[in-house]
Amino acid sequence: MDNKHYLQSSSEADGSNHNSGTSLVIKWISLSPLSYLRAGSTKLKVVSFLFGLTLSFFIVASYILTWDKTGILITPAPSPLRPSLDMRSLLRNILFKLDYTPRRVPDEREVIGSDPELFSAIPQRFLPQVKNPCWLAEYLSEPGADPYRRNLFTLRSKSFKTVCDNMRTSFQGHLHHRDGKVYRLRCLPYFYIIGQPKCGTTDLFHRLRLHGEIKFTTMKEPHWWTRKRFGYIRFKDGLKARFPLEDYLDLFDMAAHRIQEHMLANSSTENSEVQFITGEASASTMWDNQAWSYLHGDKEEAEPLLLAQDFIHTVQPNAKIIIMLRDPVERLYSDYLYFKVANKSMEDFHQKVIDSLQLFQACLLNSTLRYCVYNTDLSNAMPVRLNLGMYVVFLLDWFTVFQKDQILILPLEEYAANLGATIQKVFEFLNVGSLSEQAAAAVTRRPMSNARRAADRRLGPMLNATRALLRDFHRPFNSKLARLLDHKAFLWTDV
Ligand SMILES: *[C@@H]1O[C@H](CO)[C@@H](O)[C@H](O)[C@H]1NC(C)=O
Ligand SMILES: *[C@@H]1O[C@H](CO)[C@@H](O)[C@H](O)[C@H]1NC(C)=O
Ligand SMILES: *[C@@H]1O[C@H](CO)[C@@H](O)[C@H](O)[C@H]1NC(C)=O
Ligand SMILES: *[C@@H]1O[C@H](CO)[C@@H](O)[C@H](O)[C@H]1NC(C)=O
Repeated sequence: MDNKHYLQSSSEADGSNHNSGTSLVIKWISLSPLSYLRAGSTKLKVVSFLFGLTLSFFIVASYILTWDKTGILITPAPSPLRPSLDMRSLLRNILFKLDYTPRRVPDEREVIGSDPELFSAIPQRFLPQVKNPCWLAEYLSEPGADPYRRNLFTLRSKSFKTVCDNMRTSFQGHLHHRDGKVYRLRCLPYFYIIGQPKCGTTDLFHRLRLHGEIKFTTMKEPHWWTRKRFGYIRFKDGLKARFPLEDYLDLFDMAAHRIQEHMLANSSTENSEVQFITGEASASTMWDNQAWSYLHGDKEEAEPLLLAQDFIHTVQPNAKIIIMLRDPVERLYSDYLYFKVANKSMEDFHQKVIDSLQLFQACLLNSTLRYCVYNTDLSNAMPVRLNLGMYVVFLLDWFTVFQKDQILILPLEEYAANLGATIQKVFEFLNVGSLSEQAAAAVTRRPMSNARRAADRRLGPMLNATRALLRDFHRPFNSKLARLLDHKAFLWTDV
């Protein structure tokens, strides 16, 4: 009852040997009581195992969510001599370091100074008669020139290219002439779905599109705020051309055209705000600040000073943020299955988890928790993306700039179990009109997106030993998250 057992592979000395599933040597190590963990954890653990295999796996864990593969950066771990995994001391260290002081929020001038172009292109005030953030921008191109000719997103998204082909034909008609100048309506997203990968964001995105007042971009994951605006598509491919703000704004032109049509049709009516809104969903926005370390590697700072949310908040202090989270243990396995292409096995996953835990343990010995969670070298070295599951660390940083009521956080487990009510909650959060019964039924009837690939389903769930390790690792983070949000679902003890 009071001794915990961990299954551990003995091949950790060779950190680069990540595919040695077949040669896995298993030994049991016994640890004394983890008295600092919450009482009753053993009981909860039994419950979680039972449900973990049935409910969580077959219902929740079966959504593999598409995610632009730009995020994958799995390079083999270097093989330094690292101490073997000692979960007890790792957990003690996590608990000790989890109580850190919040980050220093950068001054607005610092944020603006780091990208003056961005902030000069976006006005401080948006059109008052439109719910979505929109403004009239002077259009300086030659009349008749193709406005989407240089858009870099059209090279990467066929569906967006098709949209541009359609918008091109009516583009001139949407230009606004005043005092000898030509303007176009520009819009930013009213809301952002920012994370996390493999937590249901694709499914939510497609369901929200069914609401008549929500006009999404056709491109689900622009990854502009975290990667493309700096010139990264995949970090491992190095720096490419920067995607200009103009290219990002083009993604919302379809919504802008609809908003403009409504403005014109109703221009004589007083007090009639145009209700259409648009949004985007990039599952890297919440966590990925790797560009910082690539671009500022020469600086001494151990933790990124400017985060994606600082920029979004500075242009749009009223933005609405939606986050979907799920049991980080299942998220990690889903991430592994989705991104690892060859030789997947439960044993291989187990080995990669151990290697990653070791690397994290080594980092935490001498560094702060935030440093290790954001550290690019560490996350490149870890064979599975363990850091993405430490939700509370990222979330606390979002709360340093956005108010709590601007961020809606949904556990995927609740979403899946109670789709109708959860979608209704999202609609209320976005302040969109309620749907007719028929339309609401259509939104919930839509089949769940992205079922796990057939080959991955055959693989079955992760090993119990892997789950036990990951549960213990994530427990302190989950407890802090559940306290922060005052919601037990984020403990993930009964999935
Ligand atoms: C894993 O745990 C579940 C639930 O506790 C149990 O039913 C199953 O037998 C275990 N599998 C193995 C291989 O121990
Ligand atoms: C004008 O506004 C009314 C309500 O404010 C709305 O019902 C109608 O659809 C709008 N017309 C157009 C063409 O946007
Ligand atoms: C997968 O396993 C096979 C056989 O063990 C091996 O030849 C191959 O190189 C492995 N592929 C990868 C990507 O590890
Ligand atoms: C941590 O710091 C100690 C003492 O400052 C040092 O001896 C050790 O090598 C460091 N470990 C790592 C992993 O950097």
